[in-house]
Amino acid sequence: MLGIRSLLLGVLSAWVVAGHNLRANNISTGYRIDVHSHVIPPVWREALIAAGYPVKNGTVYTDGFPVPDWTLESHLATMDTLGINFSTISVSAPGVYFLNDPKEAHALARTVNLAMHNYTQAHPTRLGALCLLPLPHFCLDTLKFPGVGTNANGTYLGNSTLGPVFSVLNERQATVFVHPAAPGCQSVSLGYPFPLTEYPFDSVRAMENLLLSGQRAKNPDVKMIFAHGGGAMPYLASRYYFDTASATSAIQLAAMKSFIGVEQILTGTDYPYVPLSQSEAALPAIQGNGEFTDAEMARMNHQNALSLFPRVAKVLGYWSSCSPAQYWNCLFVA
Ligand SMILES: *[C@@H]1O[C@H](CO)[C@@H](O)[C@H](O)[C@H]1NC(C)=O
Ligand SMILES: *[C@@H]1O[C@H](CO)[C@@H](O)[C@H](O)[C@H]1NC(C)=O
Ligand SMILES: *[C@@H]1O[C@H](CO)[C@@H](O)[C@H](O)[C@H]1NC(C)=O
Ligand SMILES: *[C@@H]1O[C@H](CO)[C@@H](O)[C@H](O)[C@H]1NC(C)=O
Ligand SMILES: *[C@@H]1O[C@H](CO)[C@@H](O)[C@H](O)[C@H]1NC(C)=O
Ligand SMILES: *[C@@H]1O[C@H](CO)[C@@H](O)[C@H](O)[C@H]1NC(C)=O
Repeated sequence: MLGIRSLLLGVLSAWVVAGHNLRANNISTGYRIDVHSHVIPPVWREALIAAGYPVKNGTVYTDGFPVPDWTLESHLATMDTLGINFSTISVSAPGVYFLNDPKEAHALARTVNLAMHNYTQAHPTRLGALCLLPLPHFCLDTLKFPGVGTNANGTYLGNSTLGPVFSVLNERQATVFVHPAAPGCQSVSLGYPFPLTEYPFDSVRAMENLLLSGQRAKNPDVKMIFAHGGGAMPYLASRYYFDTASATSAIQLAAMKSFIGVEQILTGTDYPYVPLSQSEAALPAIQGNGEFTDAEMARMNHQNALSLFPRVAKVLGYWSSCSPAQYWNCLFVA
């Protein structure tokens, strides 16, 4: 039995270094940052198979969904095809918590993080990594990643046992990417693959749990991105950011635009789980479906992401010397 799995967290540090700030005014409207795409390091795939996830015709399945073929080259080629300039990569559900031995989970997280580090080192102007907790200090201080990630193994984000993790993230004013996973109760999915219904509802559970437990209020400086347009309940969440992966229809975009506003929408593709043919049609349709202006598109394509990930802005050269107080002005004043 695979046991309970909860949320996969990617955390991107949002260090605003005094005296240095964003200079995004010379970025073209179409410059796209994909905050939601996944890597499948061979070592992780092998660990899934070794742990007993079913393999059919050479493909391993997690939560009833095939884990796609993936290579770094295919990732970069897909970014080119889709016109994605920069991606913040992560490992999808089930993270590392399918391993029952915490030491093994720890070790696999470290190996996966090092693999992602390698990818970003090889392509620093195209890839940033969201690495897996439980190693926040390792990730933030040793590797100097723009991020950290975790999977809470059935413990939702509001749980007080995660308080210390949130304190560290809050101190660092970190940006957290929350990816949904299978809920603990397997029977509710009625036999359908978890990503269909349970992933969106698990996002809602996590958002609700964060609010009701007080974890969100206690850690106001943590910025949080939820995948797939916020799952099933965007209107819960004026305090979160949402990405557009599988959320590009007119109805979804209208809901996001009116409930949370374009300031909190980010671009996401969910590559390689969502096939290229689908993203290739979906990305260019966003502007028309959502009736967004060019200025709003620039917000969603890159400005919002760069403001959440100043480290990425710095790597890309979109960085100026205006003061932190002028942060937002730096984004918009030519
Ligand atoms: C943005 O403009 C500045 C000069 O104002 C330049 O130094 C920087 O390289 C530009 N960034 C990009 C990515 O074009
Ligand atoms: C098994 O995989 C091969 C190679 O990807 C493919 O051509 C074939 O159609 C697959 N068979 C089934 C039953 O899915
Ligand atoms: C961003 O990507 C687009 C499409 O691939 C490309 O035309 C453009 O030059 C890229 N912009 C930068 C600043 O790299
Ligand atoms: C996950 O939870 C299960 C029991 O629910 C436990 O046996 C396992 O050790 C936990 N895994 C980690 C990595 O903490
Ligand atoms: C990272 O790259 C180094 C050097 O290319 C290699 O020795 C190492 O095995 C790689 N680590 C992982 C986890 O992929
Ligand atoms: C918090 O997580 C622990 C460990 O998974 C669990 O035993 C406990 O019931 C959780 N508490 C709440 C309030 O959910």
